[in-house]
Amino acid sequence: MTDHDIRVLDDSQYRAAHTLFRGTLHYSPAPDDQWKFAQESYEPGRALGAFADGEMIGTAHSFSSRLAVPGGAVVPHAAVSRVGVRADWTRRGVLSALQREQLRAMRSAGDVVASLRASETVIYGRYGYGVASRYRYLRIDRHRAALRMRPVGRVRLVEGEAGERIARELFDELSPGRTGTISRWPAWWALNLRRVFAEENMKIAVRSGSSGDDGYVVYKVELGEHDPGADKPTTLTVMDLWARDAEAWADLWLFVLGIDLVVEVTAFGRPVDEPVQWLLGDRRACRITDESDETWLRLLDVPAALTARTYREGEPVVIGVRDAYLPENSGSYRVSADGVTRVEDAPELVLDVDALASVYLGDVSFSTLAATRRLDVVQAEALARADVLFAVNEVPWSGSFF
Ligand SMILES: CC(C)(COP(=O)(O)OP(=O)(O)OC[C@H]1O[C@@H](n2cnc3c(N)ncnc32)[C@H](O)[C@@H]1OP(=O)(O)O)[C@@H](O)C(=O)NCCC(=O)NCCS
Repeated sequence: MTDHDIRVLDDSQYRAAHTLFRGTLHYSPAPDDQWKFAQESYEPGRALGAFADGEMIGTAHSFSSRLAVPGGAVVPHAAVSRVGVRADWTRRGVLSALQREQLRAMRSAGDVVASLRASETVIYGRYGYGVASRYRYLRIDRHRAALRMRPVGRVRLVEGEAGERIARELFDELSPGRTGTISRWPAWWALNLRRVFAEENMKIAVRSGSSGDDGYVVYKVELGEHDPGADKPTTLTVMDLWARDAEAWADLWLFVLGIDLVVEVTAFGRPVDEPVQWLLGDRRACRITDESDETWLRLLDVPAALTARTYREGEPVVIGVRDAYLPENSGSYRVSADGVTRVEDAPELVLDVDALASVYLGDVSFSTLAATRRLDVVQAEALARADVLFAVNEVPWSGSFF
């Protein structure tokens, strides 16, 4: 018997949940003009509340989405967000109760995987979430960049709703696509773009080539303090950049790097294999200022998730999975290039479901997890077989913050 219980929230409770969540991040309640953007993003059945003494003390939410897995398949995905427990109720098992309920509800709703962005890395491993993709922060000294190229296609600025409409259409065409990319729910755009547009000096530029519009960049420019003796320390930040092909990608970067009166171009949330340095005359003008964990992935339905992705040619391997929160996932799986079957065989490698999530998109290998003591090796030579089967061509990346 616990001193709190978990309930599905209805729309009369969303604002209180939102205020509670913001409070756990030390933000004040959203004023009415911001709440209108958040309100429409609450999805019926996907907001949970923890209650004690008749008050809401914790909350968790998820958005319906889809995620691309190695081989190109797209699976139902829950994007978990707005997780928080009121400061006077922490470390009493409230999050664990919310997680137990949420994991079960998402799996029952047919979501094959869930993912989140973690405020702190110590929280979610115990619930079966593992780091499955990373991203980078970049800083480019524009004057030093010594650009020698110009865009080969046309890049044009598109204002307001028209810009957002083109960006959304291109995004929906391109993501989910690359492994790790996800679909954005309709309210994502209002919350992350329109709301911020209203507050900041953001712009959308669209690139077109021989087959029409094929990429866009959303960026903002922040003016520095005026100093008559020096260039203004104006910074341009790339917020969102998606392109159909390499030509469009290069043109969009060349466009932002070519904008006058900008001293520094920064970007966050970019893929770890994005070759921006190679566009520059002086590659040292581009500094990688940070690399961080991006997708924390949870395999909710392990058989469905393992079956959805493809595997490289190689000898099969039997892996054993442990899942304390969704025990129906626990068991042995024989993985081969022909597919995945549940078996009674003794496993050659045994790992918790969070470690399985980390190898699932291919960002880390079984060997690396073994070397860092994240899995149990029963048959040492099985590691090389697992590495071959799970290897991918492209580093996973999501590119959508939520
Ligand atoms: C993170 C948070 C939701 C945890 O809620 P909680 O109700 O205290 O978590 P629980 O009591 O269920 O904790 C379960 C376990 O995780 C551990 N844990 C949870 N949050 C932790 C944290 N931030 N740091 C270290 N350990 C943590 C607990 O110690 C406990 O460990 P145990 O099972 O070994 O005893 C809460 O601290 C919070 O709201 N933080 C601020 C907002 C935030 O970061 N939200 C997450 C957004 S991604």
